[in-house]
Amino acid sequence: MREVGIGIAGFGTVGGGVISILRSHAREIEARLGARIVVRRVAVRDPEKERMVDLDRSLLTTRYQDLVADPTVQVVVELVGGTTEARSLVLAALAAGKHVVTANKALLAFHGEEIFRLAEEKGVDVYYEGAVAGGVPVIRTLREALASDRIQAIHGIVNGTTNYILTSMAEKGEPLATALAEAQRLGYAEADPTLDVSGGDAAQKLCLLAQLAFGARVAPQDVLTEGIMGLLPEDFAWAKEFGYALKLLAVARRSGPNGGDAGGLIEARVHPAFIPRDSMLAGVRGAMNAVLLHSEALGPTLLFGQGAGAMPTGSAVVADIIDLSRNLLSGSPGRVPLPPATSTVRLRSHAEIRTAYYLCFSVKDTPGVLARIAATLAGRGISIAAVQQREHEEEGAPVALVIVTHQAREADLKAAIREIDAYETTAAPTRLIRIEQV
Ligand SMILES: NC(=O)c1ccc[n+]([C@@H]2O[C@H](COP(=O)([O-])OP(=O)(O)OC[C@H]3O[C@@H](n4cnc5c(N)ncnc54)[C@H](OP(=O)(O)O)[C@@H]3O)[C@@H](O)[C@H]2O)c1
Repeated sequence: MREVGIGIAGFGTVGGGVISILRSHAREIEARLGARIVVRRVAVRDPEKERMVDLDRSLLTTRYQDLVADPTVQVVVELVGGTTEARSLVLAALAAGKHVVTANKALLAFHGEEIFRLAEEKGVDVYYEGAVAGGVPVIRTLREALASDRIQAIHGIVNGTTNYILTSMAEKGEPLATALAEAQRLGYAEADPTLDVSGGDAAQKLCLLAQLAFGARVAPQDVLTEGIMGLLPEDFAWAKEFGYALKLLAVARRSGPNGGDAGGLIEARVHPAFIPRDSMLAGVRGAMNAVLLHSEALGPTLLFGQGAGAMPTGSAVVADIIDLSRNLLSGSPGRVPLPPATSTVRLRSHAEIRTAYYLCFSVKDTPGVLARIAATLAGRGISIAAVQQREHEEEGAPVALVIVTHQAREADLKAAIREIDAYETTAAPTRLIRIEQV
């Protein structure tokens, strides 16, 4: 039986899942690959630490360089995380002519260009299915299954932590702090959840998706990114009243007229969004992930599954190891080309984005307030689709006035809100949530 030698850097959550799957599915993998995958070295920080999965201790090393130096390691699997040591390891592995599998979205979102360029130069592969939506095979779908098609839009729920929190808020009417504390208690949210709740994690994943779907080189800091921390229980109540669900969406789409190319313009944004209650994404509950792709020939495709965790992410990583081993054994690395290093696709200015909006004004209940707000919106070319007002709970207290607009230009909408927020009848800054027809 032929063998493929691999070295794994990182024996934490995902590393443990990978080793466990390689062991428990060894027979099936051998049958599908016609070869055996052999773990030659495993790099960790602390070799004394208790592990969830048993492993021959002689394989452990604290020097990830040992994986690169070992001539029997053909594939380096990076599961360390972060962008410093992971970057050094991946670049060193590629420079040594080794193939790389990683689940590290941050590494590829910030250093993908450098990594892909070196891989191409060296004629080796980089696979990264686990980096977006964990076990859900969205990278492979974009790279291979839809290679024939032209993607028009991607709408994703790609962060399980925030989807868990938003599901709790929607279903139990909880405030965000309660839902977040519960997510932390159950292990769905980190002790420091900033990267998740800020939308930053989803933005990094969106960069990888936009690159594959549109050939765009988008940096995380260029994605319009708004997190969930400003959401209130009443937003969910309003969503329900207007027939929507409220989700943190990652959106990338062609942004010309009618979804056309417009000289290679795309939008890339991550923000809370009202989506129709009967949308396929509205039913994605808890920590689950889903990506809805719209492509010209196939139409809509929904990929749904577990976006994190040892075994789901481990399964994506092992599938990459198998695919890569097939290339290696058949002598055809580079069979599925990496995204090109240069691109003519540009990001549309966020000010030019057009969506419909939910606007929640907090106003003093005096005559003429609604008329004045409506006139300000109209003055900026923003037309109103629906208006609702809540009765105030105590005499003299501000009331919530909610307006749903038709599609409007983001810059016009923001200018109108600045104007309205300066009125003496406005009691608190206006809150907005974009509405996405998906
Ligand atoms: N967790 C998930 O569900 C998930 C899902 C999708 C993608 N990912 C990505 O997968 C990667 C790994 O995540 P994880 O959750 O498995 O992380 P983790 O549980 O924190 O594990 C990290 C591992 O890396 C080891 N390590 C850290 N620095 C090292 C160094 N300098 N040299 C050698 N080993 C080092 C640690 O060693 P010690 O054990 O000795 O401390 C640990 O085993 C990240 O890029 C993450 O974004 C994770």
